[in-house]
Amino acid sequence: MSKQFDVIVIGGGPGGYIAAIRAAQLGKNVACVDEWKNAKGGPAPGGTCTNVGCIPSKALLQSSEHFEQAGHHFADHGITVKGLSMDAAKMVARKDAVVKQNNDGILYLFKKNKVSFFHGRASFAKAVDGGYEIKVAGAAEETLVGQQIIVATGSNARALPGAPFDEAMVLSNEGALALTAVPKKLGLIGSGVIGLEMGSVWRRLGAEVTILEGLPDFLGAVDQQIAKEAQKAFVKQGLKIELGVKVGDVKVGKKGVSVAWTNAKGEAQMLEVDKLIVSIGRVPNTTGLNAEAVGLKLNERGAIVVDADCKTNLPGVWAVGDVVRGPMLAHKAEEEGVAVAERIAGQHGHVNFNTIPWVIYTSPEIAWVGRTEQQLKADGVAYKAGTFPFLANGRARALGDTTGMVKMLADAATDEILGVHIVGPMASELIAECVMAMEFRASSEDIARICHAHPSLSESTKEAALAVDKRTLNF
Ligand code: NAI
Repeated sequence: MSKQFDVIVIGGGPGGYIAAIRAAQLGKNVACVDEWKNAKGGPAPGGTCTNVGCIPSKALLQSSEHFEQAGHHFADHGITVKGLSMDAAKMVARKDAVVKQNNDGILYLFKKNKVSFFHGRASFAKAVDGGYEIKVAGAAEETLVGQQIIVATGSNARALPGAPFDEAMVLSNEGALALTAVPKKLGLIGSGVIGLEMGSVWRRLGAEVTILEGLPDFLGAVDQQIAKEAQKAFVKQGLKIELGVKVGDVKVGKKGVSVAWTNAKGEAQMLEVDKLIVSIGRVPNTTGLNAEAVGLKLNERGAIVVDADCKTNLPGVWAVGDVVRGPMLAHKAEEEGVAVAERIAGQHGHVNFNTIPWVIYTSPEIAWVGRTEQQLKADGVAYKAGTFPFLANGRARALGDTTGMVKMLADAATDEILGVHIVGPMASELIAECVMAMEFRASSEDIARICHAHPSLSESTKEAALAVDKRTLNF
C-alpha cells in the first residue's frame, strides 16, 4: 500500500529540507527522503552542506584559526603561550560533533513541522494518476505517491580524469575534512572556494601546501582588485599558488601522490605530496534517481533542466539547488526551495539572482554581491567606485586584523549600488548589509547617510559608500 503525500521532496540538503519545511508551513502533507548515513548508519539529513561542506569546513576553519592565532598572533597582544600543540583527531571529532548537532536539528525541525522523513534512496517509479510513484530503498522499503515532487539531490565532487577519488590519497571535500593527521606536504588542484578553504585549514595546522590552478588569473570570477589583495595575503601566509598550469598524469603510490604539471611558461614540473585534494568544481547528482522512467529532462552536464521558476519538463516536478543551473551555494538552494514550496501553494515565490552573496571563509575572508568592476566594464556600464581600507578602521586596528578593504560600485548616473566586494575581517557578516541595500535598490548615498555603530567594521562599508562620492572622513 503506497503512502500518499501532497509534496515529496527528494534530498534533505539545504534546498530539500527547507522546501519541505516551507511546504508543510503552508499546510501541505509533506514527505522528505534522504539517504545520507552517519557513521553508525543512522540518518544524517542536511546534505553536502551539513555533512561534508559548509558546516564541517567552518568548524575546522575556526579550530585551525585558533591554533594559528595562538601560535603567531597572541604574542602581539602580550599573551605568551608555552608548549602549544594540537590534536588533529580531536579537532576532527569536534567537527563531527558539530555536524551531528546540525543533523539532529533538521530531524527535530521535521518533527516540529510534521514533515514525514524517510531514510533511504528515492527514485522515480512511474507517473500515476495525479502524480508520481516514488520508491524508497533503504532501511525500510516504501512506495510513496506525491502530487508534486521537488528534486533536490545536490552535486558530487568532480574528479580529475585518470585520478579517481579514493579518499585516502586522492581526496574530495569529504576526505579533505576527515584527515586525522596533518600531511607534511599537501597538494591541491583548483584554487577555487574549496581549494582555498581546505588549503588554509591544513596550512594553519602545519602542512606545506601547494595549489595548482588552471586559469591564469587568481579567483577570476572575483573583482580583480579584491582577488589581488587576497592573493597577496595568502602568499604571505605561506600558501604556494601556481596559476595557469596544466595538470598531467597523477600517480598514486602507497606513500604519496606525484602530479606531473606544466607551469605558465610551459616548463614541465613534478609535485610530490603526501595527499592530494582535487577541488575542480562539482557535478549535478542524479545518480539512482531513475529520471528516464518518467522522462525527466537532463542537460549535457547531467543537470536537471528547469525554467526560471524551477519547473522541469514534467508537470508537478520541480528541481532546486546544485542539481539545476546557477551557483552551487547552499543559500541559493534554500531560496529556490522556499520559492518552489510557495509556488506549489499558489503563492508567488521569488529568487533574485542578482543579490546572491558569495563568501570564501579564508583569512582574510572574501565576500561579494552584485557585479565586479571587470563585469561592469564588459557590460559597458558607467560606474563610480569607492574603496576604504580596514587599515583606517579603528575596530580593525583594535582587533589586530587590518588586511583588506571594502569596495563599492555604484551607477554613475543614478548612484544605485551595483556591487560590493570585501576582503578582510568578518567579510561574511559585513556583506549582509550590502545584500539588503541592493535588494532595496539603495544608492551609495543611502549607505553613506545611515548611522553605523562606532567602533565597528561596518563603518568601513559606510566609508566605502562615502568614497564613491570622494568624501571619506577617516582616510
Ligand atoms: P570552484 O568552481 O570554486 O573552483 C574550481 C577551480 O578549479 C577553478 O578555479 C578552476 O579554474 C580550477 N580548475 C578546474 N579544472 C582544473 C584543472 N583540470 N586543473 C587545474 N585547475 C582546474 O569549485 P570548488 O572549489 O571545487 O567548489 C565546488 C563548489 O562548492 C563551488 O560551486 C562552490 O561555490 C561551492 N562551495 C562553496 C563554499 C562557500 O560558499 N564558502 C565553500 C566550498 C564550496
